[in-house]
Amino acid sequence: REQQLKRQFEVLEQANTFFQQQLRQSTDRQRAVSYLKQRGLSGQIAAAFGIGYAPPGWDNLLRHFDQVGNATALLEQSGMVIHNEDKQSHYDRFRDRIMFPIRDVRGRVIGFGGRVLGDDKPKYLNSPETPTFHKGRELYGLYEARKHSNHLDRLLIVEGYMDVVSLAQHGIHWSVATLGTATTAQHLERLFKLVPEVIFCFDGDQAGRTAARRALNTALPVIKDGQEARFLFLPDGEDPDTLVRKEGEAAFSERVSQALPLSEFFFKSMSEEADLTSMDGRARFSNTALPLINSMQPSLLKQMMLDRICDITGLSLEQLSSVIDLHQATHE
Ligand code: UTP
Ligand code: MN
Ligand code: MN
Ligand code: MN
Ligand code: MN
Repeated sequence: REQQLKRQFEVLEQANTFFQQQLRQSTDRQRAVSYLKQRGLSGQIAAAFGIGYAPPGWDNLLRHFDQVGNATALLEQSGMVIHNEDKQSHYDRFRDRIMFPIRDVRGRVIGFGGRVLGDDKPKYLNSPETPTFHKGRELYGLYEARKHSNHLDRLLIVEGYMDVVSLAQHGIHWSVATLGTATTAQHLERLFKLVPEVIFCFDGDQAGRTAARRALNTALPVIKDGQEARFLFLPDGEDPDTLVRKEGEAAFSERVSQALPLSEFFFKSMSEEADLTSMDGRARFSNTALPLINSMQPSLLKQMMLDRICDITGLSLEQLSSVIDLHQATHE
């Protein structure tokens, strides 16, 4: 088992080396290089993130590993090749895509994200879950951010690979991306072990705003006193990549400094759904808000947020808890 994992890491590292070579040597390299240039990336930043290229064709990676004993089985276990049952053959998962290696905190390649050069679907193809790759736990760019600075005091959580790389290109070397999944409690617990502050910065579209609401609900039970989560909303149609390219580092950093504290986003988003001028609206507001606040760990912030509900409703904590079970809050 142990030995097999070790072999998988080796295969993934070699695949990564192969993709980076292909960016320099393959006959199709020009298309890939111009794509990266067109997206504003320098050779230096591409190298820092180990960006590579999987050329067109069904078996480039397979053939690259041809001489190595049982490599096909290892490639399949690492999600790099797919087994075609009908034809009893194997083919490369990633073809004609820009390759983003995903590393764990120790720097080992655990999987890849691959982007098409044009508008084909799916835009990004990711490694499947494998013994070495767990999407709900890993964060793209975390290794690179820590490598760049051994004293991080905050991290920006963005949606995409390109956002992380583009921000770094513009001097913001402290962002990470979830791997095409929602932010999990596991992600946050991991980040808060490293930094006291995380800032969510999703795309300026409906999906991004929904993701922010979900991230809020995920963050509430995780956050402790001394830790802070904030939320940065981008103008419609922008993502961190497009915005930092348009505005530059200084303007983007100014936005970061104005990101909403968790409690402000919480009360703002709740109040958008209920009319606080009516008693009925205030009741509905509190019915939604209280269970969420109640999911928080005992903390000063929690107490202050409960206080805020008391202000809004005009009820005491005792009165509130006679209707809704505020176990931890009232007894601490
Ligand atoms: P976006 O569609 O916002 O991608 O998805 P993006 O990073 O801005 O893409 P560019 O700028 O056009 O290159 C955000 C993230 O969601 C995941 C990827 O991790 C992507 O970076 N995703 C998106 C997928 O896994 N598959 C997809 O087909 C699309
Ligand atoms: Mn097989
Ligand atoms: Mn998007
Ligand atoms: Mn983008
Ligand atoms: Mn995006």
